Amino acid sequence: LLPDSVHIEAQALDRLGDVVAGLAVARCVIIADSNVAGMYGQAALGSVQAAGLPADLVAFPAGEASKTRETWAALADRAAELGLGRDGCVVAVGGGVTLDLAGFVAATYMRGVALVLVPTSLLGMVDAAWGGKTGVDTVAGKNLAGALHRPRAVLVDPAVLATLPDAELRHGLAEAVKHGAIRDREQLAWIERRRGALLGREEAALLELVTRSAACKRAIVAADPYERGERALLNFGHTVGHALERLTGYRLPHGAAVAIGMVAEAAIGEAAAVTEAGTAAELARVLTGLGLPVAPPAWVTAVDVLPGAGSDKKARGGRIRYALIERIGVPAGSGTGWTVEVPEEVARHSLARLWAGAAGARQVSPERNVI
Ligand SMILES: NC(=O)c1ccc[n+]([C@@H]2O[C@H](COP(=O)([O-])OP(=O)(O)OC[C@H]3O[C@@H](n4cnc5c(N)ncnc54)[C@H](O)[C@@H]3O)[C@@H](O)[C@H]2O)c1
Ligand SMILES: [Zn+2]
Repeated sequence: LLPDSVHIEAQALDRLGDVVAGLAVARCVIIADSNVAGMYGQAALGSVQAAGLPADLVAFPAGEASKTRETWAALADRAAELGLGRDGCVVAVGGGVTLDLAGFVAATYMRGVALVLVPTSLLGMVDAAWGGKTGVDTVAGKNLAGALHRPRAVLVDPAVLATLPDAELRHGLAEAVKHGAIRDREQLAWIERRRGALLGREEAALLELVTRSAACKRAIVAADPYERGERALLNFGHTVGHALERLTGYRLPHGAAVAIGMVAEAAIGEAAAVTEAGTAAELARVLTGLGLPVAPPAWVTAVDVLPGAGSDKKARGGRIRYALIERIGVPAGSGTGWTVEVPEEVARHSLARLWAGAAGARQVSPERNVI
């Protein structure tokens, strides 16, 4: 599920045309959201056309609310109108929403066509571009309809981060913190040491973060591509996080939901005597320092979140299994499929206690993006 070629370097976007031309495809549909299309769509289109390939740019409205079957259908119909054939290529230029959505188009269009990913958000660069997961959300669940589809190439151009809104930069840092939390304490320590440079968008620091996180995720995917075991660790923070996204009608951004979810699941792990005491507080301190939320809006209760988690893909047989850590940098559950079952009342009590103690952090509404 990992790409044949990876380009994490300055001016990577300019090389898009050469990379796509090297795949021997007949034509290309570039998919971007309405924000990114305006900023980088012409550069991507120009690069592919300059390499001698017919190409079109198709945009959809930015935001998680577009990651639906309806947008997927509209994009596939548009690709057909534009004459994309079995020998065509979909190029996704954008954040995680675009990568997942355009990736799902590529996975399903004529039973699968070539896919090239150009992540432009930090979250896309550190996480969503790696591992071949594509899909869309439904009312019943986050990423409920999806497919695994290997991208042929991934291009990361750090220059595009210059236009990324501050809140989006932080959302990417949340997934990078996750990589540290699940297997590399040094990554977390490095993020803390380089916090000023990262938040100040120093290119060298951001490039190193992307390289580190991409290497972490690629190693996990290479070891367990089909999530029979170790890959489940990447879901740390996501059982509660996905429930929060669904509860807020997908208005709570994914990175923010994962930040809240990691602290919540560390607390659940502590209550279940799986996770070292103090881990939730330590993660909350790191995430708060990065400007990320660590508790949901005040109207969300533990009871709201946990029944929702029952319909998550990670729930097996109606009982909730969590990807947990023993302590920062050390995963739990190596003997039980890398997930741990926690009785629902233990989880519910620990969240109720955690969020009651976070009253001050819970005054912001999801409509205002929480942070
Ligand atoms: N497939 C995977 O393995 C995987 C992993 C992690 C997350 N995800 C998915 O990724 C999604 C979240 O991704 P996201 O946070 O990137 O959201 P997103 O794609 O909505 O991007 C966030 C915002 O940033 C804007 N943006 C992106 N790049 C920009 C740039 N260079 N300059 C200015 N604005 C820019 C977008 O237009 C959007 O408004 C979720 O749906 C999540 O489920 C998938
Ligand atoms: Zn995620």
